Amino acid sequence: MCVLGLETSCDDTGIAIYDTQRGLLSNLIASQAAIHADYGGVVPELASRDHSRQVLPLIQAALQAAGCSAAALHGIAYTAGPGLAGALLVGASIATALAFAWQLPLLSIHHLEGHLLAPMLESPAPEFPFLALLVSGGHTQLVQVTQLGVYQLLGESLDDAAGEAFDKTAQLLGLGYPGGAQLAQLALQGRPHRFQLPRPMTDRPGLDFSFSGLKTAVATTIRTADNSQQTRADIAQAFQSAVVETLVIKCRRALEQCGLNRLVVSGGVSANQALREQLAHLMQQRGGQVFYPRLDLCTDNGAMIAYAGAVRLRAQKPSPAAMGITIYPRWPLAEQHPPGYE
Ligand code: KG4
Ligand code: ZN
Repeated sequence: MCVLGLETSCDDTGIAIYDTQRGLLSNLIASQAAIHADYGGVVPELASRDHSRQVLPLIQAALQAAGCSAAALHGIAYTAGPGLAGALLVGASIATALAFAWQLPLLSIHHLEGHLLAPMLESPAPEFPFLALLVSGGHTQLVQVTQLGVYQLLGESLDDAAGEAFDKTAQLLGLGYPGGAQLAQLALQGRPHRFQLPRPMTDRPGLDFSFSGLKTAVATTIRTADNSQQTRADIAQAFQSAVVETLVIKCRRALEQCGLNRLVVSGGVSANQALREQLAHLMQQRGGQVFYPRLDLCTDNGAMIAYAGAVRLRAQKPSPAAMGITIYPRWPLAEQHPPGYE
């Protein structure tokens, strides 16, 4: 079963082809980071325009790289939400038009389902059930995953997402946008324990997160400290430790609450090495396992959408594409259903 996947929910045009027999055949990405860098954040209209420019040539290139023609496809999957409405519409309209023209089933995929299934593209792949920590620029969620499409939200950020907190702190430290990876790089030179930052919401029960206070604490620290390179690195280190420790504490709590010992970590922030080390340590202590996507599949990509589309298509009766273009800019993950659910 061979599926073309389109991801256009935010600032990356991701196109991939996944085959259930042969694996990932191609995976191309057109990043818009340079377009939005001057603005310190994603400009929705610029994002939609660039998706429109990139999406068709990228589909052609992905088919070529996979060495297959449209006739070899069994379905088309696209990110239907959540995300920026204009950006989603680009992927949704192209996917719908192609599915109609090529008479293929069309699969509307939830962006976060794509992220949480992405580690299944690796070997060994996690088996259901597991706990998923989704940490991206737009979301921080702990999700109990029972089977494909059965997701229970256990906790989430009440304000900034973890990636957003990384990006805002990076900006305060004078780094570029998006600054998560650059901040992590700077933190490598930082000395631990010089600055103490809070571990928000860890002193009370529950699995929700809050990262906006941490960003304010960083702003105050920056204002009162000197501006040397070493101090900036020490602050980056203190910030990263606070986020990582907070995420680890909540993962431990969630695993205990669910009686699970398999953890899947996905989304852009799962590329963070300090987080990976600390979670590896946690799971080692518990005698459990932790799974990640490879680094280029942590951030937004078409492969995770093609994969989610393929496993859904394999598990359900194929139906012809319905007319109409469907997007859900706000779409709770818990509203997902197993394949074939009416
Ligand atoms: O999943 P993603 O590509 O987009 C969303 O769906 O939001 O995640 C992007 C986020 C950005 O906030 C970026 O700064 C962060 O992931 N990120 C990192 C690292 N690499 C990317 N944060 C911390 N450490 C990293 N190494
Ligand atoms: Zn994402």
